[in-house]
Amino acid sequence: MSIAKYHQLYSEFLSQNAFVGEPNNLYEPMKYIMELGGKRIRPILCLVGTEACGGKVENALPVAHAMEVFHNFSLVHDDIMDRADQRRGLPTVHKKWNEPTAILAGDNLLVKAYESILTYSGNGKDEILTLFSKTATEVCEGQQDDMDFADRYEVSEAHYLNMIQKKTAVLLGCSLASGAIVAGANSIIVTKMYDFAIAIGMSFQMMDDYLDAFGSSESIGKVSGGDIMEGKKTWLYIKSCELSSETTSWFSQYSAEERVSFVQNQWRAMGLDQMLLNVANDYNDQGLSILKDLEEMGVSVNGLREILEFLQVRTH
Ligand code: IPE
Ligand code: IPE
Ligand code: MG
Ligand code: MG
Ligand code: MG
Repeated sequence: MSIAKYHQLYSEFLSQNAFVGEPNNLYEPMKYIMELGGKRIRPILCLVGTEACGGKVENALPVAHAMEVFHNFSLVHDDIMDRADQRRGLPTVHKKWNEPTAILAGDNLLVKAYESILTYSGNGKDEILTLFSKTATEVCEGQQDDMDFADRYEVSEAHYLNMIQKKTAVLLGCSLASGAIVAGANSIIVTKMYDFAIAIGMSFQMMDDYLDAFGSSESIGKVSGGDIMEGKKTWLYIKSCELSSETTSWFSQYSAEERVSFVQNQWRAMGLDQMLLNVANDYNDQGLSILKDLEEMGVSVNGLREILEFLQVRTH
């Protein structure tokens, strides 16, 4: 099955399970964010994980849905935290409605993510719930680190890598590993699948930082330069500090808006854009080497390779 097919399968499941209810101001924003689109990479990973391990993809749909609903919960709250006005090309939930509504819509999405796993009755339900809970806690920890780092001067590359592993990579890991669990894969394979998704998840967040700094608002569907405006300690910022002692002053001297194009130009001139792509590629290479092991273990890795290649060239 191709990525497009998995995408379609999940979209059909989502439209049959759209959020509706009263009060409308709680359910409408939940439906809004879920139906804004997005790449659906987490549910796709879950479905691919099931198929790669010889399971029936249909069985994984409620688990795949839980991963996407959780992701959307984290985005609604993330956009409040990051003061972001746009998501997937449209106004963020707290901008279209207001912050209290966005907090509650996010809360209820988190509950609905758990409920979706509760409707699943196949292999390894407890194992999936345990991994999911551990993952959800790590995402909160990573998100708190992300916020704390923005106010701190000294953030090392190791701190950054740990932070992005928690805020982003672990949910990709959980999605793929859960898919393998649905198929009844053994624990060695489940762990390898998790490690593969962590590797591509690291590269995924680095690409997200790259696109935030260098992509256009039209293609990324977010306000480009948002991380620079918020003083986020991305890999670009950390390396920029290592290469130029003036970096911190660029962030204190200029107003948020003026700083964006100035910093973008500096970073390009320093070659940081290409350096970041190289590091992201190293993670993809790690992923490819894990795929070899998985193949030797009898896992059908074509779908996983397709996802890796798709993420390597993404522009949004
Ligand atoms: C954005 O995730 C938030 C991160 C963890 C980087 P995606 O880039 O997967 O967002 P959508 O779902 O495709 O919009
Ligand atoms: C978000 O990271 C990670 C989570 C939502 C858990 P970002 O803040 O970089 O994501 P975007 O760029 O807003 O999509
Ligand atoms: Mg954020
Ligand atoms: Mg954000
Ligand atoms: Mg980002």
